Amino acid sequence: MNATQEQLKVKLEQALVAAFGTDYTGVDPILVAASNPKFGDYQANVALSLSKRLGQQPRAIAQSIVDKLDVSDICETPEIAGPGFINLKLKTAYLEAQLNAIQADSRLGVPSSKTPKREIVDFSSPNIAKEMHVGHLRSTIIGDCIARILEFQGHDVLRLNHVGDWGTQFGMLITYLREVYPEALTTANALDIGDLVSFYRKAKQRFDEDEAFQETARQEVVRLQAGGEDTLHAWKLLCEQSRQEFQIIYDLLNIKLEERGESFYNPLLPSVAEDLENVGLLVENQGAKCVFLDGFTNREGEPLPLIVQKSDGGYNYATTDLAALRYRIEKDRAKRIIYVTDSGQANHFEQFFQVARKAGWIPEDVEIIHVPFGLVLGEDGKKFRTRSGDTVRLRDLLDEAVIRFRALLEAKIQEEEGREETEEFKAEVSQVVGISAVKYADLSQNRTSNYIFSYDKMLSDKGNTAPYMLYVYARIHGISRKGEINFQDFKDNAKVILEHELELTLAKHILQLSEIISDVEQDLLPNRLCEYLFQLSQKFNQFYDKEHGLPVLKAEEPQRTSRLMLCDLTARTLKLGLNLLGIQVLERI
Ligand code: ARG
Repeated sequence: MNATQEQLKVKLEQALVAAFGTDYTGVDPILVAASNPKFGDYQANVALSLSKRLGQQPRAIAQSIVDKLDVSDICETPEIAGPGFINLKLKTAYLEAQLNAIQADSRLGVPSSKTPKREIVDFSSPNIAKEMHVGHLRSTIIGDCIARILEFQGHDVLRLNHVGDWGTQFGMLITYLREVYPEALTTANALDIGDLVSFYRKAKQRFDEDEAFQETARQEVVRLQAGGEDTLHAWKLLCEQSRQEFQIIYDLLNIKLEERGESFYNPLLPSVAEDLENVGLLVENQGAKCVFLDGFTNREGEPLPLIVQKSDGGYNYATTDLAALRYRIEKDRAKRIIYVTDSGQANHFEQFFQVARKAGWIPEDVEIIHVPFGLVLGEDGKKFRTRSGDTVRLRDLLDEAVIRFRALLEAKIQEEEGREETEEFKAEVSQVVGISAVKYADLSQNRTSNYIFSYDKMLSDKGNTAPYMLYVYARIHGISRKGEINFQDFKDNAKVILEHELELTLAKHILQLSEIISDVEQDLLPNRLCEYLFQLSQKFNQFYDKEHGLPVLKAEEPQRTSRLMLCDLTARTLKLGLNLLGIQVLERI
C-alpha cells in the first residue's frame, strides 16, 4: 500500500465511524486499486460487505459513507457505481504535487522500513570440489536481488554463502589424490576446478567399487575432523581452489557475499544432538540418532525420521543447518532468515524447521523462510545441458551471453549510417547487457516455476527483457544529449504539469514504485518488480512514441520542462529498479 492509499484508507475509516458510530471503528474499508481506469484509481468495496450487518442496501450505505467522506485534497468527488462501489479518482493537482516532491528525493518517494531489522539471506552456496551449476546461478541472482531490496529498505542484511565445504566428499577426494596426484594436496594452484571436478568423479567411482578405498577414505574424514595437519592442509588447498573459481562467477555477476561454509559450524554439531537429547526429542533408531517428524512418511507409509547423527558418528546436512540456525539466532541476532535454494530442497527445510520449532529454538519474533525456485530447462524442455550433453559451466554460459549480444550490437552499429564505436565501448556495453540479460531472464519469471533458458529470447530488444529496458533508459539519455539538457538542473521552479492522458498514465505508474518495493519485501517475488519496470518502459514508449506520443524537446514551455521532468523521473525509476535487480544501466548503447 502506498502513502496515498494509506491516507485514503484512514479517511474512509473515519467516514465509516462518522456515518454509523463507533461500533464501526476498525472496519476495513476494502480499498483496492481500480480494475479499470474508467472507474478512477481506487475503489472501496466496504458498502457491499456491510449490507447484512446494517440491514441496508449497499448503495445507500455507500451514500452515507460518501456524505461523511472528505477527500477533496486528494480526489475528485467520489462516485458510487454498480451495486455500491465507491470510486475514487486522484486529482491532477494532487498527482502533480506528488511528482514534484519525488523529483527532489533520491529515494523517489520510497520510504525506508519503519522497523529495520537484522536479516540473513543464505544464498548461492555452491559445494567445494564440485562445479557451480545453474541451480546455484539462480540462487545467486535471486538471493542478491532480495538482499539488495532489503538493504535499500534499510535493513541490516547479512549475505551468507553457506558453502558445502565439509563432509565425506573430502575423504574420497583426498584419498584419491594421495594416490594419483599427491602434489595437488601440498602445492597451491596445482589443479583447476575442471580437474578437481573430474578427480572427484573418479574418486566417487572408486569409493563405490573398492572397499579398502572406502575404509581409507573414512579414516581420512576422521583425520580431517580431528584436525590432522596434512589432511587439514590438503582440505584448505582444495577449498581455495574452488573458491577462486566461484569468485570469477561472483565478479562477473557483481555479487558480494560473505563465506561462512558448513565447516564453520562443525564444532557446534555435538551440542545440537545433546540439546535435542535433553529436550527428549532424540530417538535411537538402528544405531542412528533421529528425531521423528509430523507429517512425513517414507514410501512404506512409516513415520520418517530426520537423522541427526549417523550410526558411524557422522553428522548430516540437516544437523549443520540446525547448528547454523541456532548460531544465526543467538550470535548474529537475526530476526528474519531467508534461504534461497531450488524447490527440490523444500522437504529438507520443512523438516529441520520443524525440529528447531519443536526444540523451542525459534523465538516468536524470528521468522525463518525457505524461498524456493524452479529448474532451468533447455529449449527442448529438458534439463539444461550443452549440445554434447554435458553440464554447462557457468562461466561459459555467461561468456556466451556476452558474445551473442556483441554480435547483435555490431550488426546494429553497422546498420546505422556513419556510426562508429571504439572497441572499449563495444566490450563494455556487451558485457553489461549480456550479463544483465541472463539475470533479468531469471528474475522476470515467477521464481517458483521452471523456465526455459533461451539466449534468443533474453537478448531480444523486444518484450520483457533486459535489453528492452536498457534501451529505453539509454533512449531517455539520448533526449538529454540531443537537447543538451542536464536533468540535475531542474530545481524548484521546474514543475510537472499533467494535461494529457499519456502523461497521467506515466505519472501514476511512476508513483507506484514504493508500493511494489514493499510488496517484494514481503513476498520475495522479484518478478513483480520486473513486471512493474516493464510496464513503466512500455508506458514511457507510448508517451514518447513518434507518431502517437507527445513532443518533448519540440514542445512549448512550460510543457517542455514538465515532459523532460517526466523523462528524468522515468529514467531514475528505471535505474533504481534495475539496480535493485542487480542490473547496471548504460547511458548509451
Ligand atoms: N550447498 C547446498 C547445495 O548446493 C545449498 C545450501 C543452501 N543453504 C543451506 N543453509 N542449506 O545444494
